[in-house]
Amino acid sequence: MSSFALKNGVLHVESVALSAIAERFGTPAYVYSRAALTASLREFQDVLTAHPAGQDALVCYAVKANSNLAILNLFARLGAGFDIVSGGELQRVLAAGADPKKVVFSGVGKTAAEMKLALDAGIFCFNIESIPELERLNEVAGQCGKQAPISLRVNPNVDPKTHPYISTGLKEAKFGVAYEHALDLYRRAAALPHIAVAGIDCHIGSQLLDPSPFVEALERILALIDQLADEGITLHHIDLGGGLGIKYKAEQVQPTVASYLNPLLDKLQGRGLQVVLEPGRRLVGNAGLLLTRIEFLKEGEGKNFAIIDAAMNDLMRPALYEAWHDIEPVEPRDGATRDYDVVGPVCETGDFLGQARPLCVQPGDLLAVMSAGAYGMAMASNYNTRPRAVEVMVDGDAVHVIRQRETVEQLYAGESILPQ
Ligand code: LLP
Repeated sequence: MSSFALKNGVLHVESVALSAIAERFGTPAYVYSRAALTASLREFQDVLTAHPAGQDALVCYAVKANSNLAILNLFARLGAGFDIVSGGELQRVLAAGADPKKVVFSGVGKTAAEMKLALDAGIFCFNIESIPELERLNEVAGQCGKQAPISLRVNPNVDPKTHPYISTGLKEAKFGVAYEHALDLYRRAAALPHIAVAGIDCHIGSQLLDPSPFVEALERILALIDQLADEGITLHHIDLGGGLGIKYKAEQVQPTVASYLNPLLDKLQGRGLQVVLEPGRRLVGNAGLLLTRIEFLKEGEGKNFAIIDAAMNDLMRPALYEAWHDIEPVEPRDGATRDYDVVGPVCETGDFLGQARPLCVQPGDLLAVMSAGAYGMAMASNYNTRPRAVEVMVDGDAVHVIRQRETVEQLYAGESILPQ
């Protein structure tokens, strides 16, 4: 049963009508379902525990997809680890009750201060993306009197066939170390006094709906692992990154976690490697929506606009990637539809959440922008001095505020005017 469904003509999240949420907390609002979040993590855990190669696997939720403390805390309670990309994300996961031994640290530009923070916390692994980064970590670990566990993020040069802004595994990407140089880099890493070679890592891109590039990438990584073993460099874990896609359109079919993971686990069986995963979007994307109200309808010669109270600052994905999100009326009306561009009040032509959407709506109606749980609030900004939306989590018939709506005063609290 979906956690998002029409009941008595009103779109509900679990047992709560979205109209009631709008009434109580205002709009725009991000609304998440605890049951949907739990189910998406459980889908990974169930597939892993059912496979011999997945027994000791670690699911490290990619915090960047949605870093709200309540979501992090929920996943921590369910046993997840975390994939972080900054010192800020580390502080967040620790504040949310994460076990630092289940944290991997990704990203191309870690500062010395961030490295020290992570070493002090005792994280599971640093995913290293360049020689200078490796050398910096060796130095910082030396100063702290520690050995830093590392994986090299290897770029398998596989085309994930997704949007160019979110494909990362091609050799021209800024991410990872080139496949051809990986062996040499491992040799260098193994010789550094404050580095402990622990694993290997790859992440080829995001929103992949065809699992075959993952298999291709794994085959290339396994060949490298064999070469490393020949040189006496043995690895403890393999981190396959994130990237599994979700359906953004009702008619799309999304691959199951089993159809993505089982072919990978089959290839890993008997190798004695702990599997680490970094899913982001798949765990949260379809567990949240953006609730908004129509302010005005502007019906023109060539185009009709539904002007809503959410905007590109709340959900950047359509403006940034021409991404599609289904837009559903919360209380659907009977009647003829017209095509509307669903736009916000921000002064940019790119400020749309959907274009040419057939809708039968009136001013004041509520709309739900679906599949907005991932890279929605996490990428929101205060452009046009717009306070960011309230975030609420539905749990059965209860609604919890998990982040208050910002106030305008908070937005300029850190600013000051010149003395004269
Ligand atoms: N691991 C690494 C190293 C990553 O760079 C990413 C995402 C993930 C894991 C999680 O990937 P996921 O499972 O969520 O696909 N803002 C874009 C997506 C950017 C993804 C960046 N890296 C969007 O809204 O589509």
